[in-house]
Amino acid sequence: MQVIMAKEVGFCFGVKRAIKLAEKALREYGRVYSLGPIIHNTQVIEALREKGLEPLTDITLTDKKPVVIPSHGVSPEVSKRLAGMGMPLIDATCPNVKRVQRLARTANKRGYYVLVFGEKDHAEVKGILGYIEGKGSVFGSVEELKGIPFGKKVALLSQTTQDPARFQEVIPLLLERTEELLVHNTFCKVVISRQKEALGLASQVDCMIVVGSHHSANSRKLAEICLRVQPKTFQIETPKELKGEWFKDVNKVGLTGGTSTPLEVLKEVHKVLLSGHYVI
Ligand code: F3S
Repeated sequence: MQVIMAKEVGFCFGVKRAIKLAEKALREYGRVYSLGPIIHNTQVIEALREKGLEPLTDITLTDKKPVVIPSHGVSPEVSKRLAGMGMPLIDATCPNVKRVQRLARTANKRGYYVLVFGEKDHAEVKGILGYIEGKGSVFGSVEELKGIPFGKKVALLSQTTQDPARFQEVIPLLLERTEELLVHNTFCKVVISRQKEALGLASQVDCMIVVGSHHSANSRKLAEICLRVQPKTFQIETPKELKGEWFKDVNKVGLTGGTSTPLEVLKEVHKVLLSGHYVI
């Protein structure tokens, strides 16, 4: 069986930066809090936890340890509250996410109703919504958009890891219902280019494996996009999840990973695929 690994794999710059900042804080302070998972990858979180990075589950705690703001950012209210409690903040928000937050705040100040294309429960989206003082909504599909009572002046932006093709589908609908439509391209270029490569690879192979945490929005999206052209697409977090039955009559396997998936894990999956030693 031939295994073809995508060229664009491993951490994106936003994830690398967040890990670096967390490690620097650990060296400086010893023990540090993280406001939710610093990135969406279980292995990395566990490795950092062993070094002293604890998830902060209750922000009413007042033991004044420094807090790392994760790559997907938080709302201004949360940062203000932590800073007000005297907890030093280490801001590891990805610069791409910061840009979306800034655009949302400016659009709100200029009187636009802000529509965010994304997953309403995702931390990045929750953080962005914090910048628009309740004057906006999040939606994940054309159907959901239809139910939102927005006005005639709308600003449209997207969670950084969404699929641009789906985003484009909503623009005609918004043009029908608005007088002024401001569209910001807030997709992460790393994610788009990874999605494109994965789509091409998935259409050339008999089976596609996407390695990434099930909590990682960009890994899930990657698998969803591959599934459109390759029904045998499977998302796994570690090589232990590979199943022998997926590879019956398969000659070529494609392999890709999310932006928070360590390269070492992809290499391990690659090795297991070549050896054929699946656990199940
Ligand atoms: Fe940032 Fe894009 Fe990575 S938004 S955290 S560079 S996936």
